[in-house]
Amino acid sequence: MSAFSLKIDIADNRYFNGETSPLFSRRQAQQARHFHQKITGYQPTPLYALKDLSALLGIKNILVKDESQRFGLNAFKMLGGSYAIARLLCEKYQLNINDFSFDTIKTTIKEKMTFATTTDGNHGRGVAWAAKQLGQNAVVYMPKGSAQERVDAILKLGAECIVTDMNYDDTVRYTMKVAQENGWEVVQDTAWEGYTKIPTWIMQGYATLADEAVEQMTSMGISRPTHVFLQAGVGAMAGGVLGYLVDVYGASNLHSVVVEPELADCIYRSGVKGQIVNVGGDMATIMAGLACGEPNPLGWEVLRNCATQFISCQDAVAALGMRVLGNPLGHDPRVISGESGAVGTGILAAIHYHPQRDALMQKLGLDRDSVVLVISTEGDTDAKHYREVVWEGKHPATR
Ligand SMILES: Cc1ncc(COP(=O)(O)O)c(C=O)c1O
Repeated sequence: MSAFSLKIDIADNRYFNGETSPLFSRRQAQQARHFHQKITGYQPTPLYALKDLSALLGIKNILVKDESQRFGLNAFKMLGGSYAIARLLCEKYQLNINDFSFDTIKTTIKEKMTFATTTDGNHGRGVAWAAKQLGQNAVVYMPKGSAQERVDAILKLGAECIVTDMNYDDTVRYTMKVAQENGWEVVQDTAWEGYTKIPTWIMQGYATLADEAVEQMTSMGISRPTHVFLQAGVGAMAGGVLGYLVDVYGASNLHSVVVEPELADCIYRSGVKGQIVNVGGDMATIMAGLACGEPNPLGWEVLRNCATQFISCQDAVAALGMRVLGNPLGHDPRVISGESGAVGTGILAAIHYHPQRDALMQKLGLDRDSVVLVISTEGDTDAKHYREVVWEGKHPATR
């Protein structure tokens, strides 16, 4: 294969201090997982070892957590929304989350609540799903340009779904206003001043996937990953998962890399500056789940303290990752990974074929002993676009 240069900007985190947070600890993650385990159909999503791809790239192992298999919802996001809604209901009806039972809550609920949220697709689907499971209402707002397939998936769960003519961050503000006017409860995966409780629960819920991965690695005889690649929109997933992982392994023992599309690289820019930097505009990246321009302050704090590096990359990196995961080498399993899910693997592949491969590998501390954990956070949530990329070669690596 020819060498090609995809844009991958890597910034070291000069503000790293390795401080862990009690909010995103192993204990909190296990409490969330205990809740998820009570949902009918719960099972850990697979953790695949891509041995043949690792050999090609010159590293020891690539472990892919396949979140397309999360409760048949094709993405990890329901982990956050469902846990936050359960915690909200427990708070309202003075129940203990550790004793949560779907039957008890359904018989305890006196009045129907409406949960409102903004989504690029996956989070709203999770909120709609959780509301339906608990017999509640959901109203979901989506930014302009949202794929019809993602809208339909939410409508199918019985939620109301409205596509606005605003970008993601403005839609969040709009949702907040409408919810206030109507007395709805906002279940948003980002935080702002005075709104931290629900996003904290959401981030704790995401850590279930990390707790599963740690358990799965142990049973595979892997004591720990050397690296983790975490893609970020607002940085709630990256913060929740990294918070957990550094509590388990220690921040200095894990090379963690936060990955974003260059059109919505607010965490990367914040990482360079050491304080929150927002990005505006349409953020027209194919990585729809990562098209957020305003970092979640709770996630940002964890990432500023504990991430090793930040990456901003072009869309073709994600497209490459989709093709690599969908067309495995040798005996590796096939992973159907969508735009936002595949970017971590895309970085590994793009570096391998980069004219400056050795320098980039060195910069990321990758070598023959590296065990890299990547989270494929979604499957083909926009199946039409998935095929355009994987079958038709849209967003090619070379021109
Ligand atoms: C598939 C997928 N991956 C990653 C993310 C990023 O999560 P966060 O916004 O918490 O950074 C999202 C967000 O919606 C997503 O849908």
